[in-house]
Amino acid sequence: MRQIKLIVKTNSGKYPVFIGRNLVENLSSLFRENSINCKKYLLIIDKKIPKKIIAKVTKSLKKLKVYKHTFDASEKNKSQKSIDKILNILLKNNFTRNDCLVSIGGGITGDVSSFASSIFKRGLKFVNVPSTLLSQVDSSIGGKTGINTKEGKNLVGSFYQPKLVISDVQFLESLPSREIVCGYAEILKHSLIFDKNFYSYLNKNINKILKLESPQIEKSIYESCKIKKLVVEKDEKEINIRKILNFGHTFAHAYEASLKFSKKLNHGEAVILGMRSALSFSLEKKIINKKEFNFVSNHFDNSKFPFSIKDYFSLKDINRIISFMLRDKKNVSNKIKLMLIKKIGGPIIEKEFSYKIIEKFLKKNLIN
Ligand SMILES: NC(=O)c1ccc[n+]([C@@H]2O[C@H](COP(=O)([O-])OP(=O)(O)OC[C@H]3O[C@@H](n4cnc5c(N)ncnc54)[C@H](O)[C@@H]3O)[C@@H](O)[C@H]2O)c1
Repeated sequence: MRQIKLIVKTNSGKYPVFIGRNLVENLSSLFRENSINCKKYLLIIDKKIPKKIIAKVTKSLKKLKVYKHTFDASEKNKSQKSIDKILNILLKNNFTRNDCLVSIGGGITGDVSSFASSIFKRGLKFVNVPSTLLSQVDSSIGGKTGINTKEGKNLVGSFYQPKLVISDVQFLESLPSREIVCGYAEILKHSLIFDKNFYSYLNKNINKILKLESPQIEKSIYESCKIKKLVVEKDEKEINIRKILNFGHTFAHAYEASLKFSKKLNHGEAVILGMRSALSFSLEKKIINKKEFNFVSNHFDNSKFPFSIKDYFSLKDINRIISFMLRDKKNVSNKIKLMLIKKIGGPIIEKEFSYKIIEKFLKKNLIN
């Protein structure tokens, strides 16, 4: 079993992240070696994970007392109703704070499971086994939990760090290519905000990464997790530097919400569109120069990424998009806060704009 280990150290907890292939076969030893010794475990399992991997998980945990709950991961089910179901299972089976909840799924399953863990008896042990590229490179690290409400995405949640993260690349083999692209979007975001060398590596190896070739896929997951780790270690509760991780996300969340979180545009695709919008906006406001802008634009254009907001929206959608941007958690006034990059690899700046300016920008992008 070849594995890479990273340690994330935050004020509220220190935990290892293991990255490698065929790790779930050894889940119980990983638990034991990392002091996860509980009486009971509730596994929240994404229903799309192939049965043969779940069989490996079950085999590895056969000596432990394990309960299973299958979860249909969708933004619609990232809801209070799903939390209630999980809490009911925990309560009915007399779980205590010394027991453990294990998420085996993507970012949605992880966000829901970790939120339930954070509020059950004020917190029971949480282990994350991310099964999508996005969750392996991003959402499994840093302790943000959350659910959606009809007012918007992730508006209810908490900060709650896992005890252990196990990222097994074998999960990615059954992932639709659209989901691989979504994970890649977050990898790309990490390089753009933090590390130009890593960006150049991605630019050179994108095809191999998207085809999940080794060692490129493991290296990209590792480098991406390293950036996320550095950022959350400095600012666990998103008071200052962690905000840079929101690059492209103010646009992205508004795009997703405007389409009512439909399958037409999933989260990662929205992030790609959001980063493209943030980059074009940075160019328009002369925050990034044309050469750097073109370097990134070519990368987007050469990949099979969602192309333009025009493929998803028309002029009649602008008010709706703006209203979601104004509701974003980062805004404390009637202005819209955006994270924008000056150069590839940073620095990144936070700037406020009146909604009229964003409205004009969106209009221009939807017409031309
Ligand atoms: N907590 C954080 O810091 C953080 C960061 C980024 C994103 N997020 C959240 O993560 C969510 C997106 O995560 P995601 O992209 O992983 O989405 P997801 O959890 O919906 O998974 C995407 C799809 O892949 C399926 N799937 C999962 N694993 C699979 C596998 N191994 N094989 C086949 N299919 C599989 C799921 O059923 C789903 O249909 C969003 O809700 C977003 O808000 C959270």
